[in-house]
Amino acid sequence: MPRVPTLEATYEAPPNIALVKYWGVRDRARAIPFNSSISVTLDRLRSRTCVRFDPTLATDRVTLNGATATGGPRESVVRFLDRVRTLAHVPYGADVQSENNFPTASGLASSASGFAALAGAATAALDLKLSGRELSKLARFGSGSAARSVFGGIVEWRAGILPDGSDCYARPLFGPDYWPALVDLVVVVRGAPVKSVRSEDAMQTTVATSPTYARRLAELPRRTHKIRAAIRARDPRRLFPLIMEECDSFREVCETTRPSLDYLTTTSRALIGEVRSLNREAGRPVAAYTHDAGAHLHVFTLTKDVPRVRRRLGKLPGVERTAVLHPGPGGRRVA
Ligand code: DP6
Repeated sequence: MPRVPTLEATYEAPPNIALVKYWGVRDRARAIPFNSSISVTLDRLRSRTCVRFDPTLATDRVTLNGATATGGPRESVVRFLDRVRTLAHVPYGADVQSENNFPTASGLASSASGFAALAGAATAALDLKLSGRELSKLARFGSGSAARSVFGGIVEWRAGILPDGSDCYARPLFGPDYWPALVDLVVVVRGAPVKSVRSEDAMQTTVATSPTYARRLAELPRRTHKIRAAIRARDPRRLFPLIMEECDSFREVCETTRPSLDYLTTTSRALIGEVRSLNREAGRPVAAYTHDAGAHLHVFTLTKDVPRVRRRLGKLPGVERTAVLHPGPGGRRVA
């Protein structure tokens, strides 16, 4: 007897923090970035998304963290589901329930985990049986960084060179257990502003207006190569300065965008200064700061240095809390 698909699946996916930032799209229709990026998939934090397609539903119902989604957030989910429906040749509406196991209002919520989970759940619900690579190719249409959250450990999203985007996908570089001592100390700052411009639009304003964007792009292949090699060697002395150099380059193109993009608070800036002082005093790179398009800091360090770094950063005014995260597994189907 032919198997009747259940039309329902649940998928969990983690957020990631980029060591080489994705910032700028070469081809918007095909979601192809200007540069390849590298990130660390984080453990413990998860988006969990259940998708149920239903032939009797005329429109999609989207619930995010218990509340009915409307406007832009709903639209981006519906647009993504349209893409999946086209792939599977089905017209059905869907009921989507998505939850984060971390407070969305904390600003740590990332479209990466959400869209990686949606891609996994929606395609599994329709029995599409995509490989990790295919899932990554699809997820990038929801959110660029979601392409990387499909995989665990250290992940590279290759921009590729083909105009049709067929070589644009993420792949795991090193598994979650490759460097067990590597820690991401997340420093949550109080009063982080809610993003007023979506990254998708903000990055294109950078491409169009930042006078330093071309220089950043020219520098990236070399920096990316060095970051890959430093991780392979598990060498913090090489890696940590490069993480900060890359973060500074990202911040520079944001700040020179017109109108300027400033994601940091006074506390975020103080934290950056404190990491620099700590490294100077120690005479070695003990820690490395980075941030995405938000005010919270991700501070990379080694397990043995966590107490010292945490003590130092945790006491700065405006720090709400710190959390110790590690590289973790990628997305997976859970039901
Ligand atoms: C600074 O992937 O969130 O975090 O494609 O608009 O959803 P959309 O953007 P998104 O942008 C990520 C920007 C970044 C850098 C990175 O994660 O690589």
